[in-house]
Amino acid sequence: MKTPNRIQIAIDGPVGAGKTTVGRRLAQVLGVRFLDTGLTYRAVTRECLARGIDPSDAGAVGRVALSIKLSVGISDTGDPVVIVDGKDVTEELRSVDIDRTVSAVSAIPAVRQHMVRAQRAIASSSAIVMVGRDIGTVVLPGAHLKIFLTASDATRARRRHAELSAQGSKVTYDAVLDALRSRDRIDSERETSPLRPARDARIVDTDNMSLEEVVNTIVRLVPAV
Ligand code: DC
Repeated sequence: MKTPNRIQIAIDGPVGAGKTTVGRRLAQVLGVRFLDTGLTYRAVTRECLARGIDPSDAGAVGRVALSIKLSVGISDTGDPVVIVDGKDVTEELRSVDIDRTVSAVSAIPAVRQHMVRAQRAIASSSAIVMVGRDIGTVVLPGAHLKIFLTASDATRARRRHAELSAQGSKVTYDAVLDALRSRDRIDSERETSPLRPARDARIVDTDNMSLEEVVNTIVRLVPAV
C-alpha cells in the first residue's frame, strides 16, 4: 500500500483494547513508524519507583519527568526500545508494580506536559501510527485518521492476563480485571486529558474480531492525504 509521507494515525482506547498490537501491525502494513506513548509514562513511573519517589507527590514526580533524558526507538526486530539516561529499560516497563502506579503518575499535569511535547517532537519528522489515551484529542488533534478501540472488560482482562501469564506472572484473572477497572477509572476521570474518543474518531469494537480483521478495518479507513 502506498502511504503518504506525513500521514498521522491516532489510536486511543482503554487498557487491553489491543492498541499496541493493532498499532504496531498497522504501522508495518503501511510502512510507517510506530509509537506506543504508554511507554513514555511507564518510563517516568519506573524512574520514580527506582528513586523511591512517592507517586502521589506531584511536584517530585513532575521534576523526574522533566529531568530524565528519554528516547524511544525501534530495534532491528521492530520492537520498541526505551532508553532513559542512557540505560535500556524496555524489559522493565510492563511489570505489575508499574501497571499499578502508572495511571496515578500519568494523571499529573506536569508529567503530561513533558510527555506530550516529547511525543509531538517524535511525530513531527515522518509518517506515524501513535497509540495512547489522548492522541486524537490532545497530542495530534489534526491526525488524518483517529481510531478509538474498545472491547468489553472481560475480553480486555483476558488478553492482559494471558500476556502477564506468558511473562511468568502468577497474577489471577480477577486481580487483572480489578486492576484494569481501577486504571480505566483513573484514566477516564482525571482532569487533564481524560480518556475519551475524539469527536471525529471512528469507534472500533474489537470484541469478536481477530487482529487481522481489526487491522484490515482500519486500513480501509486510511484516507488519501
Ligand atoms: O497503554 P499503557 O497501558 O501502556 O499505558 C500506561 C498508562 O499510561 C495508562 O494507565 C494511561 C497512561 N497513558 C496516558 O495517560 N496517555 C497516553 N497517551 C498513553 C498512556
